[in-house]
Amino acid sequence: MIKEKILELKKKRNAIILAHNYCVGEVQDIADFAGDSLGLSKQAAQTDADVIVFCGVHFMAETAKILSPQKTVLIPDSSAGCPMADMITATELVEFKAKYPDAVVVCYVNSSAEVKALSDYCCTSGNAVELVANIEQDKQILFVPDRNLGSYVKEMTGRDIVLWQGYCPIHEVITDKKISTVKQEHPEARVLAHPECPETSRHLADELLSTAQMLDYIGNSDADEFVIATESGIIHAIEKRSPDKKFYKASSDVCVDMKKITLEKVLKSLEDMQHEVVVDLEVAKKAKLSLDRMLEVLPVASEKKSN
Ligand code: 13P
Ligand code: SF4
Repeated sequence: MIKEKILELKKKRNAIILAHNYCVGEVQDIADFAGDSLGLSKQAAQTDADVIVFCGVHFMAETAKILSPQKTVLIPDSSAGCPMADMITATELVEFKAKYPDAVVVCYVNSSAEVKALSDYCCTSGNAVELVANIEQDKQILFVPDRNLGSYVKEMTGRDIVLWQGYCPIHEVITDKKISTVKQEHPEARVLAHPECPETSRHLADELLSTAQMLDYIGNSDADEFVIATESGIIHAIEKRSPDKKFYKASSDVCVDMKKITLEKVLKSLEDMQHEVVVDLEVAKKAKLSLDRMLEVLPVASEKKSN
């Protein structure tokens, strides 16, 4: 049995399995912790395991390596990337910074190690508003790469923010039209949207939440019905946590990169110690500063033990 083999090897290697909430259900279920980007970063920084098997996309595994450089970090499929993170390169960020030499740079965690190394602060969807609100008031801010999360932060904080025009292709197509159609069918449902959704969709949401915040919100809410405006993988964790409530997806689009992580690949990863994530030491040292500043700021999202 594949699950038993994974658990046995995990013990032998003194490994921990971390999974993002968008991974396929069986991968979330085998993980020691399933969570959002902030919760996973916290786990990676705190664990005393020797090996981290990161079930998610590349920037997440890279973040784990930067936070725990002495550990071996494995990603079960090395081709699992994030199109949004690829929408800004280090060279482009250097050019962007040159246009605004006095600005502070905030990068979304969905970015490469090189981009993090060039940034002053890193943030996740779970703490971006709090983080930006705490930056010195007179400072102009460059926000990369997600224009949607960035414009939400701008709206919430009223800060002078210049946005890079990146976006998540999965959330970009969760349109206001799609949300309105589902809401019309279920008028009592509360609309929970991820801040990676476009501005027009955001304005239809009752709450804007990271994936872990959605789980907490539903679990603690008196409401029974919810429209979920984010990647479909989250439904597995929601149904597990709140089996008596009803959920309606605003979109069925999936993040194909997250779905590349299968149980078979997790097993192979532990068997052959592949694919090891490596980050240049100088880059990692600089990137860690922006991540450390992120972890110091009001950690509002929570992570969940999933098995
Ligand atoms: P969170 O789980 O941090 O909300 O992130 C969503 C996401 O798109 C990760 O790539
Ligand atoms: Fe990237 Fe979007 Fe997939 Fe998240 S859901 S990993 S932002 S493409």
